[in-house]
Amino acid sequence: MTTEKRQILVTSALPYANGPIHIGHMVEYIQSDIWVRYQKLRGNTCYYVCADDAHGTPIMLHAEKRGITPEALITEIAQEHQADFRDFHIEFDNYGSTHSTENQSLAESIYLRLKEKGHIASRNIKQAYDPVKNMFLPDRYVKGECPKCGTKDQYGDNCENCGATYSPTDLINPVSAVSGATPIEKESEHLFFKLGDFEPMLREWTGNNGQEKPVQTIQREVSHKLKEWFDAGLQDWDISRDAPYFGFKIPETENKYFYVWLDAPMGYIASFKMLCEREGIDFDTFWKPNSQAELYHFIGKDIINFHTLFWPAVLDGADLRKPTAVFAHGFLTVNGNKMSKSRGTFIKARTYLDALNPEYLRYYFAARLNNRIDDLDLNFDDFVQRVNADLVGKVVNIASRCAGFIVKKFERTLASENTEPALLQHFIDKGATIAASYENREFSAAMREIMELADHANQYIDEKQPWVVAKQEGQEQALQEICSVGINLFRLIMLYLKPVLPATAEKAEAFLNCPALTWENRHKALLDHQINKFKPLLTRVDEEKIQQMVETSQEDMAPAVSGPLADEPIAETIEYADFAKIDLRIVKITHAEYVEGADKLLRLELDLGGESRQVFAGIRSAYEPKSLIGKQTVMVANMAPRKMKFGLSDGMVLAAGPGGKDLWILEPQEGAEPGMRVK
Ligand code: 2FM
Ligand code: ZN
Repeated sequence: MTTEKRQILVTSALPYANGPIHIGHMVEYIQSDIWVRYQKLRGNTCYYVCADDAHGTPIMLHAEKRGITPEALITEIAQEHQADFRDFHIEFDNYGSTHSTENQSLAESIYLRLKEKGHIASRNIKQAYDPVKNMFLPDRYVKGECPKCGTKDQYGDNCENCGATYSPTDLINPVSAVSGATPIEKESEHLFFKLGDFEPMLREWTGNNGQEKPVQTIQREVSHKLKEWFDAGLQDWDISRDAPYFGFKIPETENKYFYVWLDAPMGYIASFKMLCEREGIDFDTFWKPNSQAELYHFIGKDIINFHTLFWPAVLDGADLRKPTAVFAHGFLTVNGNKMSKSRGTFIKARTYLDALNPEYLRYYFAARLNNRIDDLDLNFDDFVQRVNADLVGKVVNIASRCAGFIVKKFERTLASENTEPALLQHFIDKGATIAASYENREFSAAMREIMELADHANQYIDEKQPWVVAKQEGQEQALQEICSVGINLFRLIMLYLKPVLPATAEKAEAFLNCPALTWENRHKALLDHQINKFKPLLTRVDEEKIQQMVETSQEDMAPAVSGPLADEPIAETIEYADFAKIDLRIVKITHAEYVEGADKLLRLELDLGGESRQVFAGIRSAYEPKSLIGKQTVMVANMAPRKMKFGLSDGMVLAAGPGGKDLWILEPQEGAEPGMRVK
């Protein structure tokens, strides 16, 4: 890398203006913000822009439901989003909206250029149409029974039960999720972007052309995905929607609108354009086709195809530069599971902020992030442990162990000589490795390297024992020198953590009474320099707040405030192998009777298809024995037998319900036979 200042433009994916930011979103914004702050700290010119993604059917319908205009909805949400980002210290240079005049003129001009060059096609397609609402229905707004497994209430694109994918017209008994009407099929003309025209360019751009570039355009895992897409053939991309739609009208058409994904990425450019106009930055330097400036898009792994196929092709077709690289990341899991409303782990950014310091999460994510696309887990125990041990126990501790002596005994003044030049130099030299880790988005490696330095600094203090030296007569200068070394080591550690902990770094600068820390000025030790009184820079995580945050998130949850899911949230995820250990069998109840002296139990005799079992089941409150005889049910056949007062219970039958009268044993569909395994 040259020593010349680089010119960089960074974007994060535009969040939909349709709901609140949650901690899953925050992985990306924290990741990109750390990277941008690092670039700025290095003295590079780096702009970071984003915007709300404000168009589309869901936003239109949401506003309608609320009885407000889409414009009012997106204005309200834009404010919430920006407050959340600000409070997480996400520092955008500009935050726009795709529903802006800048974006409208960009979308129109880019589209017209593509059309002029013959990259737009048009043809009729059939789509589900709501005859009551008079609108075409996106796949997600048609519900019905899965054509494959018959499960009710499935969306028009795939079945949550069996995983089948299909089109809305395949659903059995389809209904419109908007009006409840039965959708009809209707034909309409759509406009398409001819992605296939760009295949050679895309292959070259994504294939990195076999050369080792300083930055690979796409990550290795992503290139495998791309190969699949190329092999499947690049399809034309539907870019139009019919009215009613909340978006921009397509020029030279009647009542057709740009599909939200057409104008969304253009929002990156529009937001940057706003910044250029406000700050006099030269737009073309960043966007002309052969621009030497770097352009990076940070995105989630779910939108890779938009950013590595559609978007570069659109840019190419419109004679604009293509991204230098697209950086994809994985999804957030919490305590090893998908974020879940019933478990209270679907945590809104605001709920987190109301409970905990944003820098805890910034540090935790940094400590877990790398440059690959694996999912990332937020484990609450690990979170508490890392923040407390690393940030409070190691880093802040260095300053608090040294500051007191300097303040009380030396009129807040550091020694005039650096008595440990080799040690300080080692800390300065480590900056190169840490920098490389930041640059490569290997943040977890950077955090590890920084914590090693913190350990090293603490060891130095342990060895020098300033608290002992303080009691020795005539050792004042030695005490001042030891503590001054400690403070200077702390200063370097805070510099290295500054991209992650901007607020704490600012407090540290105030304590150190020094100019803003930069990579450049790290070589200059603070000598014969007055510091300020030390105030705790960061406190330990209060574990109760985590509990509080989880409870608030559970309360937030709309549907299951009551009912079985609220009473008993879904249990921890298990592997198939765990399930396979349970041997479930169909059985026939051949005999059932009351058990004397047991007011909850019935004694059942079960036929397993040749083998007979006796089971005591706690279902007396719900069933008359007679009514059960001859019925089939499901039992756990490999349950360890249990000796009871009344005899041996050799297995378990399955039932659901809260108890009392409300208890129902399972009964298989007709055709199942005793002895068959349930799996
Ligand atoms: O997936 C999403 O949340 C989209 N709103 C991301 C858009 S990113 C960019 F292309 F605009
Ligand atoms: Zn199905």
